[in-house]
Amino acid sequence: MKKLKITGGAQLSGSINIQGSKNSALPILAAAIVSGGETTVHNCPAISDVEAALEILSYLGCRTERDGDSVFVDSSGFSRTDVPESLMCRMRGSLCFLGAILCRAGEARLGYPGGCRLGPRPIDIHVKAMRDLGIEAENNGDELVFRAERPRGGIVSLSFPSVGATENALLAASGVRGTTVIINAAREPEIKDLAAYLQRLGVPVSGAGTAEITVEGGVDYKKTAEHSLIPDRIAAATYLCAAASAGGRVELRGAVYEDVASVADVLSGMGCEIKTGKNSIELIKNRPLKAPGREIITKPYPGFPTDAQPPLMAACLLSEGETVFRETMFESRYRHAPELIKMGADIRVDGKIASVRGVRSLAGAELRAEDLRGGAALAVAALAAEGESVISGMEYVNRGYEGFDMALKSIGARAEAMD
Ligand code: UD1
Repeated sequence: MKKLKITGGAQLSGSINIQGSKNSALPILAAAIVSGGETTVHNCPAISDVEAALEILSYLGCRTERDGDSVFVDSSGFSRTDVPESLMCRMRGSLCFLGAILCRAGEARLGYPGGCRLGPRPIDIHVKAMRDLGIEAENNGDELVFRAERPRGGIVSLSFPSVGATENALLAASGVRGTTVIINAAREPEIKDLAAYLQRLGVPVSGAGTAEITVEGGVDYKKTAEHSLIPDRIAAATYLCAAASAGGRVELRGAVYEDVASVADVLSGMGCEIKTGKNSIELIKNRPLKAPGREIITKPYPGFPTDAQPPLMAACLLSEGETVFRETMFESRYRHAPELIKMGADIRVDGKIASVRGVRSLAGAELRAEDLRGGAALAVAALAAEGESVISGMEYVNRGYEGFDMALKSIGARAEAMD
C-alpha cells in the first residue's frame, strides 16, 4: 500500500485483533541466531520491518520460512558475521543483530543502521555496553567492527535506559562466560519478551522488566525453541487513539492493559470510557473530548511512550482546550504536525514542545507520511475530518502496522488502500 484514502466522519464500531509486537519481533528474530538451531516465532506480524529482519537472517546463512503468523528460523547454516549497510539502513531495529552475532561468533561488522528520521540516533550507549563486556569497537569509516578479544561477564552500566542498548547487552552477555549485571536497563515489555525467549533457549536471565538484569552467559543452548510474541502495545495505543478521534466503540482483542496504561489513562482523562476484559480493552467515545489537562511528557517505560505521541496528538486536535506535549526522547518527532495543520489543526511547535489548541472541525486534505508513527497519526486525524484525505508515503506505516487499512475497515472506517 503506497497511499491510503480515508473519508472521515464514520463512527467506529467493532473489534481488532492486535498484531504481535514489532519491537519484540526484531530482537527475537535476531536472537534466533544464538542457538544455532531452530526457532519458531508465533504471532509474528507481517510488516516490512520483519521482512527486512528475515532478509538479514538469510544473508547471514539462516533459512527462514513463514507459515501464516508463524516464522521459522533455522540458524544452523549461519556463516558470516557482517551485515552490509544496504540491509542495515532499512531500519534502526537492525542494530540488535550486533548483540546476536557477537553472542554466536565473537565478532560483528555492521553497516550504519537506518530507521525513521527522528533526529540524530547515536550508538554510544551500545558501544560503551559492549566495551563493559570486554568487546572492542572500532569505526573504520565504512562499517562498525566489534571484536570480543577477551570477553568477560561483569557490570554493564547504561547512562540512559536505551531499549536497543539493553537488548544488545543482554544478547552479547548471553555469549560471554560468567555473570553480567545490566544496570539502568530499559524496562519496556519488549525487553521482558526477549528475556523470555532467551530463557527458552536455556539462558538464565533474571530481572528483565526492572532496571537491573542479571544474565549467566556461556551456557549450552537448547537447539529448538518456540516463542509467541507479546501483543504490540503501540499498535494498540494507535487504535485506541483512532477510536477516540472518530468516536464509537472499539474493542482491541489480545491487548494488554498494563502495557498501554499510560496512553489509556490520558484518553480516559479526555472523556473516553475504557473497559478492560481478560484479554481485551474496549474504548467507548460518545461525547466531545476535552484536553487531557496535563502535559504529555514522553519517557522510557512505564512513562508515556514516544511512539504513541503522534497518534495521541492527532486524537487531541478536536478536544476542548489546550494540550502541551513535551517530547524528550527524539529531536525530530513532530514531523506529522505540519501535515495536521493542513487539515486545520492549531498546533505550535517550539523545539521539544508542541501545543495543540482544539478546533471545531478538521478538513480532509492531501497528506504525506514522513515516518512510521507520524503516518499512523495522519490516519487517526483523517478519521475525524470532514471529507476525504489521501495519505501518501504509507510505506512508512507498512513498516510497523499489519494490514492497517483492513484493521481500520474492520471497525467501520471508510478506508481504502491505493497504489
Ligand atoms: C526503540 C524502539 C522505538 C522507540 C524507542 C524509544 C525498537 C526497534 N525501536 O528504539 O520504536 O521509539 O525504543 O522507546 O525497539 N540513544 C543515545 N545513544 C545510544 C542509544 C540511544 O543517545 O547509543 C538515545 C536515542 O537517541 C534516543 C534515546 O536514547 O534519544 C532512546 O533511544 P533507544 O531507547 O535506544 O531507542 P531504540 O532502541 O533505537
